[in-house]
Amino acid sequence: MNPLVAFGAGKVILLGEHSVVYGYPAIAGPLTIGVVARGGPSRSCVLDVPVTADAAQKRMMRKAFARAAKLVGEPKVKVTLEPQLPLSAGLGSSAALAVATSRVLLQAAGQAPTAKATARLAWEMEQEFHGTPSGVDHTTSAEEKLILYRRVQAPAGVTGRARELKSPRPVSVVVALAGARSPTKLTVGALRERQARWPERYKRLFGQVGRLVTEAAKTVEAGDLEGLGDAMNVNQGLLNALGLSSPALEDMVFRLRSLGALGAKFTGAGGDGGAVIGLFPEPEPVVAQLTRDGVRCFASQLAGPRVQGDIP
Ligand code: MEV
Repeated sequence: MNPLVAFGAGKVILLGEHSVVYGYPAIAGPLTIGVVARGGPSRSCVLDVPVTADAAQKRMMRKAFARAAKLVGEPKVKVTLEPQLPLSAGLGSSAALAVATSRVLLQAAGQAPTAKATARLAWEMEQEFHGTPSGVDHTTSAEEKLILYRRVQAPAGVTGRARELKSPRPVSVVVALAGARSPTKLTVGALRERQARWPERYKRLFGQVGRLVTEAAKTVEAGDLEGLGDAMNVNQGLLNALGLSSPALEDMVFRLRSLGALGAKFTGAGGDGGAVIGLFPEPEPVVAQLTRDGVRCFASQLAGPRVQGDIP
């Protein structure tokens, strides 16, 4: 068997995390860093888990792998993972891992790793990682485009509808890590309890986020970065109202705004810490400044005419 290699992109959610779980739209884009999976000859179908993963992550990865492998007839391949992203930082590392692994498994089973086939298989793995994910993470990773995504009830394996959003101007963000990360399952579960207790109040807030996302999709397509930045700021306020932010995340949001971000918010699950994004027409000087200050950060272009790659 020839060695196989596949990539799964990390992701950032520009707008609409959490409410996307309840059927409202979200905008998400791929990072140019993610997870690389390599497939080599083996007597069985096995996963070589990354050494950087902790014991719980390793257990979950093996379970998710077994579920996906079974669906493609357990081809004889040893899959090795090389994460380029921090694991569990809100940057879609599990989706990137699921997508990269699914692409290798499909190839090893003699099937074409199309975006659709990859997304179907990665979805099986994502359910092991997150319980009730909306599907936005692995869809963004498999499509590798800035997308407007909405979860839908659909045939087995299809989680939502995605439409590419094209921008006439580069949409570039600085991604900065802050605080200690809370597991996605916990923040999603705690929000589910609050919304079950006060359904009307939370429905109003989710609806506000949904309208913001629909408006922001138009600002992206018009190249109106100022309008997009304002939508991100308002989204952050609503995420805070939903009880999903924390001092570490808020401090980083205000730090990015003080450095000139057109908009800033946390991205992903939120909680005690994780990733914060700031929209900057020129991200490099900001990355240089934050790095000098000891902040783990990089820049990524999510859409528009290509002018740069990721700066690790
Ligand atoms: C996690 O990256 C995004 C959440 O909206 C969960 C999900 O969509 O499944 C918090």
